[in-house]
Amino acid sequence: MFAFKASAQQGTHMFRAKILSKCAFRRKMSSRLVLGIETSCDETGAAVMDETGLILGESLHSQKEVHLKTGGIIPTVAQRLHRENIGRIVQEAMERSGVTQSQLSAVATTVKPGLALSLGIGLDFSLNFVKLHQKPFIPIHHMEAHALTVRMLQPVVFPFLVLLVSGGHSLLALARGIDDFLLLGQTLDEAPGDTMDKVARRLSLIKHPKCSMISGGQAIEILARDGNRLKFLFKPPMGAHYDCNFSFAGLRNQVTMSIQKKEEEEGVEQGTLLSCVNDIAAATQHAVASHIAKRTHRAILFCKAKDLLPSCNPTLVVSGGVASNQYIRKILKIVTDTTGLHLLCPPSKFCTDNGVMIAWNGVERLREGKGILSHTEEVNYEPK
Ligand code: KG4
Ligand code: ZN
Repeated sequence: MFAFKASAQQGTHMFRAKILSKCAFRRKMSSRLVLGIETSCDETGAAVMDETGLILGESLHSQKEVHLKTGGIIPTVAQRLHRENIGRIVQEAMERSGVTQSQLSAVATTVKPGLALSLGIGLDFSLNFVKLHQKPFIPIHHMEAHALTVRMLQPVVFPFLVLLVSGGHSLLALARGIDDFLLLGQTLDEAPGDTMDKVARRLSLIKHPKCSMISGGQAIEILARDGNRLKFLFKPPMGAHYDCNFSFAGLRNQVTMSIQKKEEEEGVEQGTLLSCVNDIAAATQHAVASHIAKRTHRAILFCKAKDLLPSCNPTLVVSGGVASNQYIRKILKIVTDTTGLHLLCPPSKFCTDNGVMIAWNGVERLREGKGILSHTEEVNYEPK
């Protein structure tokens, strides 16, 4: 059996998986072990991790294909799929780790924020599990877990600036400790991943041969590579708002109106693939990227003016599903290069939802003795 430690070199974007020797593996097994469980949205994930961040076993079931077919997440469907899969996913992670329930030091589970029906499945399962095996329980905030994942990969010290961009969230925060975040800005309407998913649906990209099985954001990125963004000019959001908040709904409206206009020009019905999908994808991606970059730039200037970042190696961490986008990463690199910050983006696998990031947050809390509950305590989930 092999255990994987994801690690990275400071100053590069390169992360690598290290296979530990059997001897090192035995040594790691003597440290405290955490089972992490994630069900906040459309991924059922579980992972077993030791105190050093070594992933001993993991398993993930994605519902994305199902939701792609229905044109979005139907909460009751997500709930049913979590219910059908959670037992198997946790069992697989445990079996792959070679760890028994009695060897676990704690169970960490996402309890907020997310879809109520999805969170409920993970929490019910976890509370039954900890009661049965008499283990401590660590409730996890999903966004904190995204923000802290990078520390599993390399020793990033607090404070650092974090940008989280996904299908459900868009926020900028200063991470000052494992449970201490200063919120600098957040979306006032929808998240960038949601915007790109909706644009992709409006463009019927599911009918495109390159995009039938992938998320809207991925489809936009792939098509944009062959598009000319200058063919459509979308006004960047919130030009006159001097803060770090985001807004994507107005931009989506502009894109929808351009699509309608093109459909009329080409004399085709809604639902037909337009000849200019690549150009629309490129212009949409560029507008999303530049809005994210401008707000991030403002947050960096704010942190600098208030002396909130360390003078040695100030860092911007970018995570969430949208952080997989290479175009967005490239624009953010320009921002960090010009402001003297170090840009860190975990590999895509760790940017999207999984059990590993939850287990890691559990490890961080276990190490600091923060937020660890007894198996007898009442815990509720909080969707918002
Ligand atoms: O973090 P995540 O897996 O789930 C949550 O939303 O919490 O993120 C999924 C989102 C989707 O909206 C998807 O379209 C977007 O991330 N996404 C991307 C890319 N890959 C996934 N957006 C832009 N470019 C990508 N390459
Ligand atoms: Zn997420």
